[in-house]
Order: sequence, then structure tokens, then C-alpha cells
Amino acid sequence: MKIVVTGGLGFIGSHTVVELQNEGYEVIVVDNLSNTSLSVLDGIQAITGKVPAFEKLDLREKKKVQDFFKRHHDISGVIHFAASKAVGESVENPLLYYENNINALVYVLQELQQKTEANFIFSSSCTVYGQAETMPITENASIQTAMSPYGNTKQIGEEIITDTAKVTNINAILLRYFNPIGSHPSAEIGELPIGVPQNLVPFITQTGFGLRKELAVYGDDYPTPDGTAVRDYIHVVDLAKAHVIALQRLLNKKNTEKVETFNLGTGTGSSVLEVIKAFEKVSGKKLPYKIVGRREGDITSAYANTDKANAVLGWKAQSTLEQAMASAWKWEQKIRS
Ligand code: WQD
Repeated sequence: MKIVVTGGLGFIGSHTVVELQNEGYEVIVVDNLSNTSLSVLDGIQAITGKVPAFEKLDLREKKKVQDFFKRHHDISGVIHFAASKAVGESVENPLLYYENNINALVYVLQELQQKTEANFIFSSSCTVYGQAETMPITENASIQTAMSPYGNTKQIGEEIITDTAKVTNINAILLRYFNPIGSHPSAEIGELPIGVPQNLVPFITQTGFGLRKELAVYGDDYPTPDGTAVRDYIHVVDLAKAHVIALQRLLNKKNTEKVETFNLGTGTGSSVLEVIKAFEKVSGKKLPYKIVGRREGDITSAYANTDKANAVLGWKAQSTLEQAMASAWKWEQKIRS
């Protein structure tokens, strides 16, 4: 079965391609290489022994998207990762985000709706919940006004898919990720932040390696046990495996609704200081950090209620925070060697 993975050379995309190949799927990776590099293909091959088909394609170019789907008339599903995802950048440059994250989605859906097998997995985010009232967060928690244009593109994306699935043969699953971290245990693929990392874990591993002087902890005055903000850090391989399970649910027509939604997290919240401690434990290094003011737009706490994914998908995250941090650290050392 042929599966198209858009953004398939990205952080979560590449790990999902590995898991799809492990399950015997034929994968076509589509990526515009704006936030990754072709060398990720070598990493995938090093793990699975198979190079996925690859086409460089910018999904904002409608004609090229039409042409791609005409040439690949026998695909069974699409997993759509391709999007810009830096919260801060989205505030500075909203139109880049609306064009890249919305137009591209629309063009892909316009082609997919013409296929007999129109199975669609969408990379969404817990950011759609904003600061949820109740922890852990369930899928029916209210969708708050987006905290950033990036978060808004995820909310709008979900609405576009829901409206489209109602009147087409598209079946979709929306996967709301919490905080993806870590790398494949082989250290052949991992997170490749370009420039100064915005996210916590790559900043920690770069600091641990000596590339950054110290970590700035954004606030220790939150109403949390140790005052630092709490998130649900999920190993990227656990996340990738959930995508394959969700796809198989659609391929086997097990979905009970045209659009189903699942939170993908560990179900456990960890504070920034706890993540630092986990890094120090697995690396044996003392991490230099300083407490500074809160970051604009950050929420206090977000961690997933994973009952639905556990019960309906039969999926549960396996890796602990320490295992995820150890894989992130192994990857950092590998790419700097
Ligand atoms: C985690 C915690 C920071 C950096 C965002 C997006 C989400 C997803 C993941 C795309 C927060 C603190 C961070 C640093 C710090 N992105 N922190 N010092 O903001 O929870 O989620 O990235 O899919 O959609 O919203 O992740 O890793 O940026 O921050 O103290 O240098 O670490 O304040 O509490 P976040 P993050």
C-alpha cells in the first residue's frame, strides 16, 4: 500500500516514515526541504534498509500538487505533517503561516477528495486547547482562542478537514500532539533545529554539549509544584507509532466517525526543572541555567488524558522522560561528532 507523507523529512515525519516502512508500507515522502535536509533520507535508510521514494514539492504550488496526485493515482492514504511550526515566528510573520499551513492543506485535500481511498491523518497540536481548565486534558476540552497564528492554523486546519469530510469521501484522524521530544534510538534521525532552538529539549542538549552558555528557564512563578511550567513530553518514536496505528484504523475502515480526534501524550506532566533533572541524570552533566521572566504566550500546564487513544487506538506511550532525554542527548552527541 502506498502512503504519502508530506513533511516526511521533518522531525516527526521522518520517524513516522521509519515506522511505516517497518510495517511494510510503500512510502512516498514529499518535502520542500525548507526546514530539513535530504540527508535525513540516508538516516531513514540506515535504520530500515529502504530509501523511501522522495519528491521535492512545495505544497503551496497548487499546480504542482495537482500534478503530483495525478501521477500517484494509487495512493491509499496521506499523513500530513508539512507545516511551519515555530510559535514565535508565526507571531512575527502570520501570513507565512496562513499561506503555508492552510493553503497547502486545502490543495492536498482538493486532490485527496477525488481518490476512492481518501484516508487522511492530520498533524495537530495540544496548542488548540490553549490553557485548558482541567488537567489532564481530554479531547472534548474546549478549544480556546488561539495563542498564536501557528496555533490558529491548527484550529482552522481541523475545521477545514471536518467541514470537508462531511461532504466528501475523506475519512480523517486528527492527532493532537503534546510535546514531542527525543530521537530514534539508533541516533540515525532526530530533531534538527535550525538556528537557536525555540523548544526546551534541543536547547538543553545543545547547552549540555557546550553550544549554548546556559538555559534560560522562562519563569518559576507559575502555580505548579516547583513554580516552572508543566508539559507532557512524549517520545517521538511513540508518537510515530501512533500515526501508523491511526492510519491502519482508517485503512481497515474501523473508524466510527468521518473525523476522529486523539490526544497523543504520555498522560504525565513534567516541569521544566524536572526535565533538567532528567537530562542531568542521563547525561551525568550539570546543566547551567538561570531563571528569567515568563515567555510571552506560554501557558502554565498542559498534559494529556490519554484514555481515548489507549482504549480506541490500543496505543500507549512506552518511553519514560529519562529514556526520551537519553535519546535526545545521544542524538546531540552524534550530530556534533
Ligand atoms: C516547553 C516549556 C517553556 C525553551 C510548543 C508549541 C507546540 C509544539 C511544541 C509544534 C515551556 C520552557 C522553553 C527555553 C524554557 N510545537 N522553555 N526555556 O511552548 O510547550 O510548545 O512547542 O508542534 O505546538 O506550542 O514547547 O519546548 O517551547 O517549551 O524554559 O529555552 O519549556 O516556557 O514551559 P511549548 P517548548
